[in-house]
Amino acid sequence: MVHISQYVQSVAGGERAKHMTAKRPEGMIRLDSGTPSFPTPEHICQAAKDALDEGLTFYAPGYGDPEFLAGACEAIRRESGGEYLPEDVFATNGASSGIYTVMTAFLDPGDEVIIMDPTFSLYSHVARQLGTVPVLVPHDAAYHLDLGAIRAAITDKTRLILFCNPNNPTGVVYTRDEVQALVGLCAEKDLLLVSDEAYDQILQPGYEHVPILSFTEHKDRTILLKSLSKTYSMTGWRVGYMVTPPGLTSLLFGVHRSINGPICTFVQRAAAAAMRGPQECVADMAEEYFKRGSLIHQMAKEIPGLLPVEPQGGFYLYCRYEFPFSSAEMRKRIWESGVAVRSGSEFGATGEGHLRFTYSVNEATIEKGMNIIGEVFKQLG
Ligand SMILES: Cc1ncc(COP(=O)(O)O)c(C=O)c1O
Repeated sequence: MVHISQYVQSVAGGERAKHMTAKRPEGMIRLDSGTPSFPTPEHICQAAKDALDEGLTFYAPGYGDPEFLAGACEAIRRESGGEYLPEDVFATNGASSGIYTVMTAFLDPGDEVIIMDPTFSLYSHVARQLGTVPVLVPHDAAYHLDLGAIRAAITDKTRLILFCNPNNPTGVVYTRDEVQALVGLCAEKDLLLVSDEAYDQILQPGYEHVPILSFTEHKDRTILLKSLSKTYSMTGWRVGYMVTPPGLTSLLFGVHRSINGPICTFVQRAAAAAMRGPQECVADMAEEYFKRGSLIHQMAKEIPGLLPVEPQGGFYLYCRYEFPFSSAEMRKRIWESGVAVRSGSEFGATGEGHLRFTYSVNEATIEKGMNIIGEVFKQLG
């Protein structure tokens, strides 16, 4: 009999894993995926081709290709005003491997990591897989940070707080005051604060993203997990980076390297072109997400029994619904009608009674999908 780690058993078969591997019938409308519908911009693809022609097909040096690290430092400066050196940054396999790395580096089995509820399900999945304890703290009624509840959840086993801003699945962008209060709480309690900013460049008009690295006086406890997947429509390239407190980079890099090996060299060159090249493509995609977000929000508001959160950042619409079915059951009914969505319970216990729809897809797909969901709700009500 093969022995499977008890930690792995504790996550195997969960909603996330099931959804990822589910076979989707031909023609299914996908309002479930975190993949942008745009092609990766041409100049980024060209940089990868050029790198291949140059023969960059071997292990990348040190923390990453020098152009990549320089590009990351430029992006950090542009996006947060933070001044970091290439030795404070290393290339990761998207933000996902950064999540695995910080938990592996700072948590022993039984230690606690505070995460928000609901949030990206990979956080608690990884925590449990490592034998550590994800402590899920519910948001307040407006899906914002509940600082009192976070404070109350801190114990002598808490090692770090991990959050994402904008948040997946709620699409909420946390305000400057609440991020500042969270940083202050971590300083008071001597905790590390890890910020996953995968969607920071995708904001609805009027919303401001507050980068963790802008709190320069707390450099010694803040860690940024950055992904190029969503910003530059590069989900399949598997690239991002981690920015660490000075003095911890070598440790974190070592952990990352033992899990992933170095990141593909020509992909790093493409990522460098993304970060150092023209940024209009980012603004153009954000403009489209604005239109799509408005459309899906409007259509959701018109469905009786569905109560959407206003889109703020990222490309997810989070909705509460008023029917006495579990969110897994609602997801199943909608799936059987030909539309894939995510059940709120995948993202935490408070996600019960909620669904997550993506608007990373084009407007025609949103219209088709939401019309079908409207019919499903009509039949229920
Ligand atoms: C909040 C958040 N962080 C990280 C990721 C993973 O991104 P990457 O492709 O960079 O691994 C996702 C993907 O959906 C996400 O929603």
